[in-house]
Amino acid sequence: MSSLFDLNGRVVVITGGTGTIGSAFAEALLNEGAKVVLWGRGKTVPVEDSVKKVADKTGRPGNISGYKVDVSVKEEVVSGLKKVAKEIGVPEVLINGAGGNKGKSSFIDADLELFKDILNNNLIGGLMIPTQVFAAYWIEKGIRGSIINVASSASYIPLSGVWAYGAAKSAVINLTMGAAKEFAPHGIRVNGIAPGFYIGHQNRDLLYSDYENGILSDRGKAIIDHTPFGRFGTMEDLHGSVVFLASRKASGFITGVTIPVDGGYLVDNI
Ligand SMILES: NC(=O)c1ccc[n+]([C@@H]2O[C@H](COP(=O)([O-])OP(=O)(O)OC[C@H]3O[C@@H](n4cnc5c(N)ncnc54)[C@H](O)[C@@H]3O)[C@@H](O)[C@H]2O)c1
Repeated sequence: MSSLFDLNGRVVVITGGTGTIGSAFAEALLNEGAKVVLWGRGKTVPVEDSVKKVADKTGRPGNISGYKVDVSVKEEVVSGLKKVAKEIGVPEVLINGAGGNKGKSSFIDADLELFKDILNNNLIGGLMIPTQVFAAYWIEKGIRGSIINVASSASYIPLSGVWAYGAAKSAVINLTMGAAKEFAPHGIRVNGIAPGFYIGHQNRDLLYSDYENGILSDRGKAIIDHTPFGRFGTMEDLHGSVVFLASRKASGFITGVTIPVDGGYLVDNI
């Protein structure tokens, strides 16, 4: 009997796949037999390094590859998709994992150029462009694909200081619901995962005052105090949700939902 979570041979593209969370998704999907393709800009980490790291960890070097694709440039996404389809196989799952935050300020002091940049990064490259390109391709070819967006705890409750990030991540949930309705007649599902707090390149300096020595910042301490499980997430905590949403057998009638994976952060009360 085949497993509900068997992804054998399914091609999955992960944008921002060179990042911390993208690599965790890659590992989980590889372990269920998927063929994973990481897309990254190659700015902070070369794409090949991320591919090697995940390949070494899972022992599945044959099923993982990577391409340099900046998802904020539509032409790169279009040609990236063509390359994947030709060289790896037709992708059936798109994970919109590119995104993140930069800086922190009071509301009044928020730099509006940076604000626009963060909205752009999380919504245009982080969601709209790849979704438009993949959905158009799937509709044309009659493929019932699955899109998984990456929201955040900040989608639900604003975090102080990171105004654009919260606004963008709220919009990720809104667009997940809107796109789910729009693409349902084509059998395309659109869902999201809202990770709580995981240590990534983008937030390390906000959550730790001294990361090397494990000393939390006041913000890091406050988050742990507000997380009923009393800790940050580990990458393994994210594995189940991504496999579940990628598998049509497991979640084929689920669309438009975002799953918080946050140790109870959103249900904290006094
Ligand atoms: N780490 C957390 O606690 C946390 C919590 C909630 C949501 N998230 C979200 O998860 C996603 C991944 O975050 P992370 O913590 O792994 O961050 P990360 O910085 O480790 O990874 C993000 C990756 O996206 C890539 N990227 C950014 N813009 C890109 C572009 N235009 N084209 C291609 N690649 C691009 C970056 O190069 C980076 O490799 C983001 O959307 C982030 O907002 C993270």
